[in-house]
Amino acid sequence: MDKYIISGGRRLEGSVGIQTAKNAVLPILAAAVLTDEPVRVLNVPDITDVRNMVKILACLGCGAEYVGNDIIVNGSTADSCEIPRALAHELRSSVFLLGSVISRFRRAKIAYPGGCDIGLRPVDLHLAGLKRLGVGITESNGYILCECDRLTGNEIMLDCPSVGATENIMLAAVKAEGVTVIKNAAREPEIEDVQNFLNALGARVRGAGSGTIRIDGVKKLGGAEYQPIADRIEAGTFAIAVAMCGGEAELVGANAENISSLLHKLRENGCKLRVKNDRIFIRSDRRPVAVKSVETQPYPGFPTDLQAQMTALCTVCSGNSIVTENLFETRFKYVPELRRMGADITVVDRSAFVRGVERLRGATTVAHDLRGGAALVVAALAAEGESEVLGIEHIDRGYAAFEYKLAGLGAKIKRVGI
Ligand code: UD1
Repeated sequence: MDKYIISGGRRLEGSVGIQTAKNAVLPILAAAVLTDEPVRVLNVPDITDVRNMVKILACLGCGAEYVGNDIIVNGSTADSCEIPRALAHELRSSVFLLGSVISRFRRAKIAYPGGCDIGLRPVDLHLAGLKRLGVGITESNGYILCECDRLTGNEIMLDCPSVGATENIMLAAVKAEGVTVIKNAAREPEIEDVQNFLNALGARVRGAGSGTIRIDGVKKLGGAEYQPIADRIEAGTFAIAVAMCGGEAELVGANAENISSLLHKLRENGCKLRVKNDRIFIRSDRRPVAVKSVETQPYPGFPTDLQAQMTALCTVCSGNSIVTENLFETRFKYVPELRRMGADITVVDRSAFVRGVERLRGATTVAHDLRGGAALVVAALAAEGESEVLGIEHIDRGYAAFEYKLAGLGAKIKRVGI
């Protein structure tokens, strides 16, 4: 177990490279099970969620190895359709494997998934979608058992635009007989990326990025070498850190379009932003001005995965803000930790009422989930004096070399063993 020790109050200056998107890499690795041909996923971030996904692929009998920064998956040797409890609990994305495993073996046995403890996170929409494709589902003893003789395309209407359910149904449908149409599909950029990857393998998927996705089943898929999109949440986290600490930075390899909801807010905060190709330049020269309200919504709305970091920023703005979380029930667990640093936040139901204070002060805090943990680090960077952030194994799930990248921008942050 490690912790971060951070000396706050320094401006952030310089250039930082943005990693490949965790939330694109995970379903793409899951999709590699669909083909017997080798798949090479390029520039994969070295994060625990990806390492766990590689372990799960190995457990299914796939070849999965790191070659430099890439991962090569060889699905031809896959011989198991079961994901044991210990692994599934480590990683919620194991549930994305339902679609590809059932497609491959006509059978899947997966323990209920884990992942960040940020709310109920049901999988009812995933299962209802698979049922529409002809899958029989039973649940017993903490396991989901899926079986079918064949998968048949169908029209599926999602009750809400779930990212995971959309991806899972896409993976199950690519090799189904006939046409599948997903309505009220999630529109996140990572879903379009999964579509592009599947099509690179020879699938026939279109419409991702809109609310309706059409999948024409194909018999066989080939191999591919694929570079997934940039991590918009990592880019957003660095942008918020600069806004909060003050300074001037360049985010290299970022996609501004994919975080335009955040960039609009940062402009309202008073930050200067400029975008050139895959670079976002951000400058913050004075105390940020409070944005009145931030509400998380499915894409293209404000991402729930940047809610905690944005709330951290609101704590030091001049003025008051209301941050409302509409997607997950318990995504304010970091709030008591920010209060230890002098933040003035009151949570009522799904909203955090934040009164901006001049300065946060260093304190010892504990991360309880991935994005909440990132918010505590960002707050500590801006705070006066020294902070410790514990529970950073949560942060390691999603941010590669976080402390090195921040140190590269001039932050004083080090990882020490406990
Ligand atoms: C994905 C992302 C996660 C992000 C989230 C929302 C990955 C690996 N994770 O998670 O980082 O925070 O999208 O952008 O890509 N829901 C149901 N029933 C279901 C499925 C979902 O009610 O069967 C609800 C959830 O409780 C939640 C909402 O739908 O309220 C959105 O969840 P969903 O989009 O499915 O999130 P994930 O795919 O788990």
